[in-house]
Amino acid sequence: MIRAAITGVASYVPEKVLTNFDLEKMVDTNDEWIVSRTGIRERRVAAKGEASSDMSVKAITKLLEETGVKAEEIDAIIVATITPDMVFPSTAALIQEKIGANKAWGYDLSGACSGFLFALKSGAALIQTGHKKVIVVGIDTMSSILDYTDRNTCILFGDGGGAVLLEPTEDENYGIIDEILLIDGSGADALHMKAGGSRKPATHETVDAREHYIYQDGKSVFKRASIDMANVSLEILEKNDFKAEDVDIFIPHQANKRIIDMAARRAGFKDNQVLLNIDKYGNTTGGTLPLGLDEVVREKRIKDGDLVLLAAFGAGYTWGSVLLRYGPSRKA
Ligand code: COA
Repeated sequence: MIRAAITGVASYVPEKVLTNFDLEKMVDTNDEWIVSRTGIRERRVAAKGEASSDMSVKAITKLLEETGVKAEEIDAIIVATITPDMVFPSTAALIQEKIGANKAWGYDLSGACSGFLFALKSGAALIQTGHKKVIVVGIDTMSSILDYTDRNTCILFGDGGGAVLLEPTEDENYGIIDEILLIDGSGADALHMKAGGSRKPATHETVDAREHYIYQDGKSVFKRASIDMANVSLEILEKNDFKAEDVDIFIPHQANKRIIDMAARRAGFKDNQVLLNIDKYGNTTGGTLPLGLDEVVREKRIKDGDLVLLAAFGAGYTWGSVLLRYGPSRKA
């Protein structure tokens, strides 16, 4: 059986750091409230004019250098993002041109915080049907849709993301083992952007009403996220006859430390099994999971063949889990 293996990972975050103390000067908030309610201390913010494709190109360039893969070898580029450079063309097309992937096709995928999981499944399906090299990106420029006068949302999100290289393997010690992926559109009211789509195109009125920013009913999202992310993590382990202690690293979506703690506790993970980097980056939406995976690989918290559980919950609602054995790492 052919499985899709992650043979490389790289990430990118913008240089500019926005701390809780910086936010204290912008909205009625304080470091103590933000840290105790969310676990976030700082987040990154893209430079003026720096878009999702620019950040993706930085991550992919590093990925190609480190794996020794040439851009022209790439068969497809899938980009999980809710902040594309433009509504169209796709960010994937812009990336293709910038990196010179002249044999690739690709597309953007809108799955919000679960987008990278959905894109991994899509990429794996391409690998299982004949593609040899697929780049899967999770990236978001959340600062482009944040209202920095709204303390309910602007403290939560940051910019950044990463990319993985998928390749086929027949070795059972590596590759994506299983996934559980779900959507529930009844959650749309709780987390969305009101204008700028076909329902409510941009007008002076929509801009004046600040409708091109994230709207969130934080409490509703919090309740669902803490239950569903835990359940879907437990479910995938049970389905595949694994126990919590078999997992080398659990990489949960980083939206709120309290959600992560609840999910980890419910699923039975010890602290040292759980990746936590929300303090540095906040919620980078589609970028969070590849950013987390890159961190654990670079810091050698995992090695080839280790069991990795990814889980996320986000707008839609969307949620899910992906279970995989990391590697075999391709080295240039
Ligand atoms: N600084 C200070 N006070 C703030 C604040 C801020 N940045 N943001 C909100 N508050 C206030 C509220 O106005 C409220 O005041 P009130 O009681 O006078 O109305 C109070 O703090 C408590 O707000 P509440 O909404 O109960 O806080 P909370 O504990 O639910 O935390 C979130 C709010 C947003 C951090 C939390 O609900 C959350 O993380 N939700 C899910 C986020 C998420 O997962 N989003 C992305 C999808 S993946």
